[in-house]
Amino acid sequence: MPEVHAAPPAASDAIFQPLRLHGIALRNRVLRSSIGGRTCNYDGSVTDVWKNFEKRFADGGVGAIISTTFHVNAQRLSPLQYPSIAQDRYVPLLRKYIAQIQESGARYIMQIGDPGYATYSSLLPEPDDSLSSSDGFDFAFGYGNRRRAMTETQIRRSIAEHAEAARRAREAGVDGIEITIAKGYLIHQFLNPAINRRDDDWGGDAQKRFRFLEEIMRAVRQAVGDDFLVGIRLSGTDYNTSPLALALLRWPPVVVSREVRVGNGIERMRDYAQQLERLGAGYFHVTSGYGFPNPHDVPGEFPVPEIRMFFDSVRHLSGKAAVRAAVAHAIPAPLVGRLLSAPFVRCKPVNLELARQIRSAVRVPVIANGGFQKYADIHDALATGACEGVSMARALIATTDLLPRYFRNRTDPPEKKQCTQCNRCVGRTTTSPLGCYEPDRFDSPQDMLDEIFRFNRSDGA
Ligand SMILES: Cc1cc2nc3c(=O)[nH]c(=O)nc-3n(C[C@H](O)[C@H](O)[C@H](O)COP(=O)(O)O)c2cc1C
Ligand code: SF4
Repeated sequence: MPEVHAAPPAASDAIFQPLRLHGIALRNRVLRSSIGGRTCNYDGSVTDVWKNFEKRFADGGVGAIISTTFHVNAQRLSPLQYPSIAQDRYVPLLRKYIAQIQESGARYIMQIGDPGYATYSSLLPEPDDSLSSSDGFDFAFGYGNRRRAMTETQIRRSIAEHAEAARRAREAGVDGIEITIAKGYLIHQFLNPAINRRDDDWGGDAQKRFRFLEEIMRAVRQAVGDDFLVGIRLSGTDYNTSPLALALLRWPPVVVSREVRVGNGIERMRDYAQQLERLGAGYFHVTSGYGFPNPHDVPGEFPVPEIRMFFDSVRHLSGKAAVRAAVAHAIPAPLVGRLLSAPFVRCKPVNLELARQIRSAVRVPVIANGGFQKYADIHDALATGACEGVSMARALIATTDLLPRYFRNRTDPPEKKQCTQCNRCVGRTTTSPLGCYEPDRFDSPQDMLDEIFRFNRSDGA
């Protein structure tokens, strides 16, 4: 496909050049990537702790915040204490808090989605938490014993739920929304040929697998109008057999054909991106891999103790979850880590080439994600025109004022203060308060605790 993009920004101050996303101006080209955790009420309404968490990054100087995935389905409130946008009653509180987050000049983009069978947890087991594109089994993701194919009626309802969520987000005052078609969430389950084994109008070939997303895009555009920012978080390549240990514990088997083994590759995603652009996508946020966490999405260590904690916390929900927890404890930690970590270089951007390839297929801006931390890497990615923006999660958890304090001076935080990509924070998202859990970054355990509680401060504190 031909290159269709304009010239890259001038190399001199690439990070601090403004960026326009579908008419919305960002003050610079660094976005805070989605960070989800237990910061809300049990009914999915946001709290002052959630607002203060987001505000800390906004005040730290990023161009925009991309939220965690807000639930679009009123029943699937999972993980517990994550925010929901599935009902009108959430809007007034969101409007109040989002305005406070935007006060310092950062834009707020709400990511919306539905985990489908990748529902991580629940108060009690619920049959609808296993819904997906088609029947099957997945040992690693979700808590249900099996995943179940959605009916036509359930598919139609889900399309309407995404559109309603988008409308509410706009009413709540966000600058845009981001639809997640990554992370192994429901739309990804329809797109991925290993998961979607349907042979009706919603599966069977690449275009039919795309139909669920296509109809969501049309319904969302109708709900929010043409002038509103609708971005897409996409997986540039599914890497279905990486890590292999997870692929072998999935049914139907992934080794039957190349298409199923690889999942959607970059060529297919470039084609989908072009179709999405025609349907009104305002930017693409590029990650890779299938499921969360996976080492293509959050490169670094596989956090064995934290994942064991998570498996333990949901083991009561199903037979599979109980066996999974037992297996995770039975296999020695170093072996689990080796089986599940991909051989990635730490502290290197892992999805930049995929972002560059998506960029060469579309006209709207592309934001690259995954492993960015160093000033020079980010500057080079922008200055060479590989992408228009860069999003970060862990490096900003480690240093929330990275931009004004270090990047303005074209430098990085001291080595000891940098994110080690240990992924302990990732492993703890559903069990613990959000924050950095890498003891090596702190002078004492108390310093680490103090910092975690600063991240989870209520207005009254
Ligand atoms: C604590 C934590 C929570 C996260 N929660 C979400 C989430 O709710 N939704 C999502 O799409 N990505 C989530 N991510 C993934 C990040 O948005 C990002 O893609 C990933 O961390 C890789 O970027 P990084 O190398 O800059 O950290 C989370 C990451 C972390 C560290
Ligand atoms: S726990 Fe801290 S050091 Fe480890 S990945 Fe998260 S932010 Fe980085």
